[in-house]
Amino acid sequence: MVPVNSFAGKHLLLGVTGGIAAYKVAELVRLLMQEGAVVQVVMTKSARRFVGATTFQALTGRKVFTELWDTDTANGMAHISLSREADAILVAPASADFIARIAHGLADDLLSTLCLARNCPLLIAPAMNLQMWENAATQRNLTTLRQDGVMVLGPDRGYQACGETGAGRMLEPIDLLAATHRFFQPEYLDGKRVLITAGPTFEAIDAVRGLTNRSSGKMGLAMAQAALEAGAQVTLVCGPVCLPFPAVHRLIHIVSAGEMFAAVKGEVSNCDIFISVAAVADYRPAEQHASKLKKTAKDITLTLVPNPDILQYVASLPTPPFCVGFAAETDTVERYAEEKRKRKKLPLIVANHAVEAIGSNESTLTLLDDEGAHHLPKAGKNIQAGLVMAHIARLYDKYRG
Ligand code: C5P
Repeated sequence: MVPVNSFAGKHLLLGVTGGIAAYKVAELVRLLMQEGAVVQVVMTKSARRFVGATTFQALTGRKVFTELWDTDTANGMAHISLSREADAILVAPASADFIARIAHGLADDLLSTLCLARNCPLLIAPAMNLQMWENAATQRNLTTLRQDGVMVLGPDRGYQACGETGAGRMLEPIDLLAATHRFFQPEYLDGKRVLITAGPTFEAIDAVRGLTNRSSGKMGLAMAQAALEAGAQVTLVCGPVCLPFPAVHRLIHIVSAGEMFAAVKGEVSNCDIFISVAAVADYRPAEQHASKLKKTAKDITLTLVPNPDILQYVASLPTPPFCVGFAAETDTVERYAEEKRKRKKLPLIVANHAVEAIGSNESTLTLLDDEGAHHLPKAGKNIQAGLVMAHIARLYDKYRG
């Protein structure tokens, strides 16, 4: 697996406190390392009841610190030196007790002392039982921490290890990765003009019937939202979908591939990046009847003619924007997607499995570029969109020097 490297050069101090979600943090460490982060783990005493320090030591290749008074550290001041090396401290899971202690400025173990002595941002990912989360004391402590500039990531709702269901579950590792990434690079597309196509197209047969596909538009809209969050100026050209739209700068509704083509031609000279997420119909009926066709007892034949390939047109312009394609395939996904990337001369194509991706909230994506294949773990489309957008921004900078 080739790292996407979105945390290259970043030093993260990862604090692990006592909660069953601590076991999931091993996966978070793996994801962060894969993205190029340097991860230094610090564990509390109760965290070590849930996971062994050896697990994190093996994953990070660095000694795991647990004690305030560590004679191995230069001048015995781990509580100062560790936090000086860090670009941020992330505490995951953050237990109710730990949250209470740092909200009150207590510093009675290494991790709480590091938090108090820090000169870098602090992010916490709470994880606790539903009642502990809802308790007024916990909520008061969180308000205090937010007022102190601490970033609170999550928690999620769902099934809990104690058997109850509700708020308090730690965010999944992939969600924590994306949230931490957004924190580090909040506006990495600042001022860039991004044109996105999304949703299906509808090719009319007559006044009421037509040909379309099962694209929901979820991925395209998630990409538009991710581009907005990255600070871009976003124009969205969207086919018929039943979803709330993100607050893009310009929204153009279209129905057919022909209309999408016209809209893209009208906008393309004003964009730096073109992301073609739409599931454009490859064919349209040769004839479109203005009134409703009458039912007959006989077979009818529908002649289809090819639609223009919008992405190929844009990528072949004399000075094209940075073009990104999406390829949904049912089999041999990566090979077909890479062939498409070469044929359409794209720096990047995002491959996914059509059956899994179409209409669903989750997908498993592979990014194919000149460096090879970058596999993203299965996650919600909004999370995936943030990671894809970060990858696009990095490639864009590389291509445009
Ligand atoms: O060739 P295929 O349709 O599988 O390629 C997928 C990519 O090409 C997607 O990014 C899609 O938005 C784009 N495309 C297009 N116009 C078409 C067909 C596909 O822009 N007529």
